[in-house]
Amino acid sequence: MTPDEFRQNGYALIDWISNYIEGIEQHHVSNPALQPGDVRAMLPAHPPVAGEPFSAVLSDLDTVVVPGLTHWQHPSFFAYFPGNSSYPAILGELASAGLGVQGMSWVTSPACTEVETLMLDWMQELLGLPERFRSDSATGGGVIHGSASEATLAAILAARWRVTGGEVNLHGDTTKLVAYTTSQTHSSIEKGLRIAGIGSDRMRIVDHDEAYAMRSDELDRMVREDRRVGLIPFFVCSSRGTTSSTAFDPTREMAAVCRRENLWLHVDAAMSGIAALVPEFRWVNDGLEFADSYCTNPHKWMGVTFDCDLFWTADRAALIGALSILPEYLRSKALESGAAIDYRDWQIPLGRRFRALKLWFTLRCDGVAPVQAMIREHVRLTQLLADWVAADDRFEIVAPHPLNLLCLALRSANAATDELIDAANRTGEVLFTRTVLDGRVCLRFSIGARLTAQRHVAAGWQLLQTLA
Ligand SMILES: Cc1ncc(COP(=O)(O)O)c(C=O)c1O
Repeated sequence: MTPDEFRQNGYALIDWISNYIEGIEQHHVSNPALQPGDVRAMLPAHPPVAGEPFSAVLSDLDTVVVPGLTHWQHPSFFAYFPGNSSYPAILGELASAGLGVQGMSWVTSPACTEVETLMLDWMQELLGLPERFRSDSATGGGVIHGSASEATLAAILAARWRVTGGEVNLHGDTTKLVAYTTSQTHSSIEKGLRIAGIGSDRMRIVDHDEAYAMRSDELDRMVREDRRVGLIPFFVCSSRGTTSSTAFDPTREMAAVCRRENLWLHVDAAMSGIAALVPEFRWVNDGLEFADSYCTNPHKWMGVTFDCDLFWTADRAALIGALSILPEYLRSKALESGAAIDYRDWQIPLGRRFRALKLWFTLRCDGVAPVQAMIREHVRLTQLLADWVAADDRFEIVAPHPLNLLCLALRSANAATDELIDAANRTGEVLFTRTVLDGRVCLRFSIGARLTAQRHVAAGWQLLQTLA
């Protein structure tokens, strides 16, 4: 592709993206008829020998790719949690690709590091997070990870380093370490623990209450018991907004146990943490002032295109202790001066993209007002939906719904709720996810797509009422 062709094709692609987003309602949310292998079968088995015109590529986007998508930007996407993509964030991604820098160290692209550091400090301010997470605080700082799963793994590794006084880097002995969470915690916690050499049998499942939140008295009891038998409690994950039902663990009470026992407290607010952009939802931050680490995902509710997880720690020395390794070819005077951050020491991989641009573009071009309005509207719609569901006695609301997720079930039987979810998803007009809460099959009605309005929620609910 020549520079001139790049320019022309670039305009065509931006047009194509705008048309896709503006016309998204002409598509079903998903294509339930699609079978594994169908998309690949529409494409040539072998790579092209000669280049093709860009128009042929765009045409395949229309005829092969788009029909093979689940449309996450669709206003009737009620599955999982949202994955919103705002216009400035899309342009930020493009700018990042265009600059093509690799920001593993400050010296490999100073602006890549410093814009990122500033974005974490801006977000600390916008979300009302504790000062101890700021990069200019005595011991804290923040970094952008690809996903909450990576952030959690980084937190576990920092905790493992701290509890062993750094020994783990030499001997790798993790056999006595024990972690604590609930059955409602995201699966990435267990995955992270396994990767860190803490097998599932040393991940304690602490009981939860009727609101699916951890019982801190049980946490206390289990930690004491593990100590008594010679094990080493080291890590507690507190979820603020669980994936199944947006349950909020009592972080403040859990923190009291963690402080007494010197356990690393990681707070996972991948979805719900972004609600703190809205002053009346700042309660989601309760107890964060005691956390050793925290993460939330602008790539879910805030519109900063996947992948963008914000991870803060109040103990950067432990994080860097766990993840820093310095071959000769990565030494720099900037790092040795102590004045520069090398973000490769804050994450698992070495290389890293200029992800901060999409956050910077979003904050500069849109500000926070549109996101605040969207969050307020999604919460309002969820409470309205809850009223509708409560008025239909075939249905039951299964969990508290403080923000934008409603878990509902048919009263009759689990099998009926399962059949309802399948029947609704088979229409392709909506997409829901199933979960199980204490043995109860639930339909998760997750309201978080940027374009979702009341009419979409009403249509989704009517469909469920008709199919039930
Ligand atoms: C509470 C919670 N934690 C962690 C994750 C994992 O997020 P990611 O896809 O960024 O790894 C999710 C995903 O939905 C989540 O809801």
